[in-house]
Amino acid sequence: MTIESDQDLEHLKVIGRIVATTLKTMMSSTEPGMTTAELDLIGKQLLENYGARSAPKLSYDFPGYTCISINEEAAHGIPGERVIQPGDVVNIDVSAEKNGYFADTGGSFVVPPSSALKDRLLHATRLALEEACSYASARKPINGIGRSIQQVAKQKGFKIIKNLCGHGVGKSLHEAPKEIHGFYVQQDKRLLKEGMVIAVEPFLSTKSQIVNEADDGWTLTGKAGNLSAQFEHTMVITKGKPIILTAL
Ligand code: CO
Ligand code: CO
Repeated sequence: MTIESDQDLEHLKVIGRIVATTLKTMMSSTEPGMTTAELDLIGKQLLENYGARSAPKLSYDFPGYTCISINEEAAHGIPGERVIQPGDVVNIDVSAEKNGYFADTGGSFVVPPSSALKDRLLHATRLALEEACSYASARKPINGIGRSIQQVAKQKGFKIIKNLCGHGVGKSLHEAPKEIHGFYVQQDKRLLKEGMVIAVEPFLSTKSQIVNEADDGWTLTGKAGNLSAQFEHTMVITKGKPIILTAL
């Protein structure tokens, strides 16, 4: 969506803060020995307390309230019986709706003990999102977002998962502009516009450039032994720095 009023911005700020707080609390509540279903229930409860509805459930009938993906799973992991282990790279993606407005956020972390490689992967992915956010302003080409992400990935020695993209958001979970790529696509001539609401979500990985849907019909998985990380913010494009709706 493109915001048209102060009211649009206020509603987006409310749902942005809800998903950001839910993500932060879920991350800090994660303990080895928990199942991903138990972690998801914490998210469910928080969203309910804030009067928000899980967007993947509302929009796609996803079998969970949040997406929880571990190690070789890059995205759209279904919460279930999988037990979280020490050393796991965990990604939680939280998106939700309130008053007809949607926001989307995500983050990755390591359940201790970490390793140098895992720390570098998380740092590089966080940096890629920061660089993309500081690039994004009105009238600039959308493909500069992918270029910013690609530069960081290359510099830090990681791959980019190419079939996972950022997207427009706001009145629904996924809307125009669709497919905001995490790498440079020269033929993409679209421009960022003032007031545009987008979610930017770089996925960096150790081995895989493509993830495939698992037999469960949801989980997107890389090669055996692949590790990936994602950080995601929902933002409003302005003439200057974007308004990050999902930063606390
Ligand atoms: Co997301
Ligand atoms: Co998203």
